[in-house]
Amino acid sequence: MKSITVNASKTYLVEVGKGLLPTVGARIAQLLPPPRKIMLVSDDTVASLYAKAVLTSLQEAGYTVFSFVFPHGEASKNTDTLIDLWNTMAEKGLSRSDIAVALGGGVVGDITGFAAATYLRGIACYQIPTTLLAMVDSSVGGKTAVDLPHGKNLCGAFSQPIGVLCDTDVLKTLPDDIYADGCAEVIKYGYLGDPTLLSWLENSFESDSARVIARCIADKRDLVQEDEHDNGNRQLLNLGHTGGHAVERLSNFTISHGSAVAIGMLLAAKAAVARGICPPNVPLHMEQTLRRYRLPTVCPYTAEQLAEAALSDKKRRGDRITLILPTDLGKSALFPVLTNDLASLFAAGGAPQ
Ligand SMILES: NC(=O)c1ccc[n+]([C@@H]2O[C@H](COP(=O)([O-])OP(=O)(O)OC[C@H]3O[C@@H](n4cnc5c(N)ncnc54)[C@H](O)[C@@H]3O)[C@@H](O)[C@H]2O)c1
Ligand SMILES: [Zn+2]
Repeated sequence: MKSITVNASKTYLVEVGKGLLPTVGARIAQLLPPPRKIMLVSDDTVASLYAKAVLTSLQEAGYTVFSFVFPHGEASKNTDTLIDLWNTMAEKGLSRSDIAVALGGGVVGDITGFAAATYLRGIACYQIPTTLLAMVDSSVGGKTAVDLPHGKNLCGAFSQPIGVLCDTDVLKTLPDDIYADGCAEVIKYGYLGDPTLLSWLENSFESDSARVIARCIADKRDLVQEDEHDNGNRQLLNLGHTGGHAVERLSNFTISHGSAVAIGMLLAAKAAVARGICPPNVPLHMEQTLRRYRLPTVCPYTAEQLAEAALSDKKRRGDRITLILPTDLGKSALFPVLTNDLASLFAAGGAPQ
């Protein structure tokens, strides 16, 4: 098992390894010992696979456990589900000393984290991510949110969990496309700042995923510790996401997040070469890595379309937008660019005109 300590506004452990689900009760008991109430939150798919193991472990440790299960998918990450969850917490009489446990992908993690951050002005939240994306990205770092009809993640809070448990065995039941989505985020860590990880990714990591997952979490930890509230270097985690979000939006979300980020990363790398800030071997290397993990590399939208879609992003600040561009193999930096310059950058990145 690998352990990563995150020293943010809260200090907590992220534990990664095989066969950890049945140990969750004992682990939470070390942090906040029973008797207490726990609200176990999951989606229907994950609940049918893993809720029983988690529930049993929590009950055996001495907790009183209630369950809240909602339909899987991004469409559930909304204020209706949030209000249902708040009401269920109130109905079951959860107090300030009780705990929410998120068992699922990023959707479950984000909504549970936000409900916990706001119910009674904040109760403890423990994360058990079950997708590769949630393990390497969404469960660590304290960003929680729900979507509004106007856009994704528009309402949320920074609130760190009390602990995170990644049982890599659960990845075996992930559909291939959802696994590939997570791979895009793993690859992102390599190009944004971790050449060693890039060398590990030359071979499939499926059989020994804990090492790679723990490495990504440590990379994210370093950025979160330096810039918890996302005003500086934490934005490096957005590598590939300006173009990626535009691709997702233009496809009406038929292109998955990971596929869109893969396309966005390659656009960024090629644009960086065209602007003379990055050697040309970087996009070539990136293209090979993305192909190895069955991710797309061709952008189906024009530079103009991408720029327009990107500029409706909530992360835009004034007449400039911060882009993350690779500057070498395993190295990236923040570049504020004029919004007027965005279309020509996407064109330089190889988007059709
Ligand atoms: N908070 C953050 O920092 C952060 C970072 C990145 C992404 N996110 C958010 O994460 C969400 C995406 O997360 P996601 O990709 O995990 O999506 P998700 O939670 O929708 O999970 C994807 C699908 O996989 C299923 N699933 C989950 N675990 C499974 C398992 N072990 N076996 C079989 N099926 C399983 C789910 O039921 C779901 O249908 C988005 O809402 C995004 O905004 C948040
Ligand atoms: Zn992402």
